[in-house]
Parts: sequence; C-alpha cells; structure tokens
Amino acid sequence: MFRDDGPGVGKALLMSAIKHFLDLDIIETADLRQMIDLGLGFKNGTGEVAPLAGKTLAMIFEKPSTRTRVSFEVGMKQLGGQTIVLNHDDMQIGRGETIADTARVLSRYVDAIMMRTNDPDKMEELAQHASVPVINALTDRSHPCQLMADVMTFEEHRGAIEGRKVVWVGDGNNMAVTWLHAATKFNFELCLSCPADLSIPREEIERALAAGTKVVETTDPVQAVAGADCVVTDTWVSMGDQPGERRHRLLEPYRVDEALMAKADSNAIFMHCLPAHRGEEVTSAVLEGSQSVVWDEAENRLHAQKGVLVWCLG
Ligand code: CP
Ligand code: NVA
Repeated sequence: MFRDDGPGVGKALLMSAIKHFLDLDIIETADLRQMIDLGLGFKNGTGEVAPLAGKTLAMIFEKPSTRTRVSFEVGMKQLGGQTIVLNHDDMQIGRGETIADTARVLSRYVDAIMMRTNDPDKMEELAQHASVPVINALTDRSHPCQLMADVMTFEEHRGAIEGRKVVWVGDGNNMAVTWLHAATKFNFELCLSCPADLSIPREEIERALAAGTKVVETTDPVQAVAGADCVVTDTWVSMGDQPGERRHRLLEPYRVDEALMAKADSNAIFMHCLPAHRGEEVTSAVLEGSQSVVWDEAENRLHAQKGVLVWCLG
C-alpha cells in the first residue's frame, strides 16, 4: 500500500496494515485511482448504498475550515456513518495531553480519525499510535484530500491528466507540494512558478525528480504558463504564515489575471482550492471567468473524500 521512501515516515507506519490516508507520495497510484473511482461512483449514483453504516469519524481541527469540515461531515452521513467534530481548544490536547495518548483513546471509540494541524510530525504521531485509519486534512506540508478532488475535477473537464501540463503560480506552500506529489503519482508535468524566496522545499523537488517526475521550475510566470492545460494558485498567506508587506511584494508578479491566463492554452482551466482572496493571488475576472472550475473543484471535495473514506474503512 505504501512506498518505503516517505520523508520521516517511520518504517512501522509504512508497514502498517491500517489504511491511513496521510500523503499522496506514500500511497500507490492504484489505490489513489481506486479512491477517485469510488468517489465518481458515489457522485453518479452507482456507488454502494450506506457502506459506512454504523461507522464514526472523529475530526480534529487545530486550524479553521469550511470546505473540509462540511464535506467530510456531509460525506460521512451520506455514506451511512456519523461524525464527531473536535476543536483543539475544547480537547485535552489543548491542555497538554499527548497526540499519542489521544490517538490511543480515540481509537477505542471511533472507526477513523481525521486531523487538520500545523506540524506534519503530529499527523505521523497520530497515525503511529492510532489503531484505526488516520486521514490528513491539511498540514503545513500537504493537503492530499484537496488533490484528490483536484485530479477528479481536472479529468472531468479535460480528460486524463497523465501527460498534461499543470502550472502552479504563486507561493510554494502546502498545496504546491501536494501538486508535486500528484504529478509523481498521476504522471503529469508540473511547472512550478514561485518567487525564489518562496519556493517549495528543495528536498521535495529532489525526491520528485528522483522518482522520475516531470517537474520544471521558473520564476517567470508568463514563461511558465505557455501551453498549460491547467493554471493553479492559492492564497499568498496560508494559515500559520506571518502576513506582511515583504510576502505581498514578492508575490505581486504572480497574481493570476486575465493577461496571464491568455498566455496559457486556450482550453486551459483555472483551479484554486479556496478560500480565495480576490485581487491578491487571483483576480475576480479569472475566478468568475469561463475557464474557472473552482466551484466544481469545491464540490468534488465531497465526492472524492467519500472515495477516500470507503478506501480507508471499507
Ligand atoms: N480548501 C480547503 O481545504 O478549504 P477549507 O480550509 O475551508 O477546509
Ligand atoms: N495553503 C492554504 C490552503 C487552505 C485550504 C493554507 O494552508 O492555509
């Protein structure tokens, strides 16, 4: 199920029979495809009815969320299961109980645990000590649930993503890293156009290159988007980042506007995980324009995650 070269992911975790959904780069492509296919089945009404009846998902949030929280709650209920939302400040982890102990205890009550947190090491610790599947609902490193919806959305609009060109424009953040993981797994070309001081971690690029991923880096967004099938961006200030004039100054040339979209393929789609900041990373004209698929992308969080849940728990 897992590849054995994940960054910092312990051997015991990689060998675990439990089907955690921690990061795309440590899950086999066939498993990721199975999740997307399951999700499409639920979307088109051919999926199994109530496959998760009697199952409970605990959802720990150490950061805010709109899409992730609502799509997981609705998705779990549509699959016949139920959810418990646990906000960090209301839990004993807010007063110092360890993640490991929390994992052990929650595993006695629920069938799966989803967490949104800052530190990827906390996600790994949760998975190491849980005896039920753990789902990564965003860390400062990655956001794999979002990419499952993004690949589904790309393929609904433009056909198979394999061999296509996706261009990331903007901050080299957790979404950029997860697009890189997706490029490795789904075999498409990823062009990363980030300011030099806000590029994605070097070790992520090195590992992707070593895995044979077609990844190109350029600080010039106009050069980057030439021939793009998809242009994608995200907020300039992720949760946990320090906002500031310098960050905005560095990212100003990376705003996705109509002029930049005009340099991409005429059929190129525009994607953004949302929430968007109109006038910063993307203009209203692009976000609301005919090439934007962001609302389908948001909807597909629901469908894709139903596939993830059934893969983990089915
Ligand atoms: N895209 C995404 O994960 O949105 P939320 O932060 O609202 O969950
Ligand atoms: N990069 C953003 C994604 C939000 C869904 C963040 O981490 O805040």
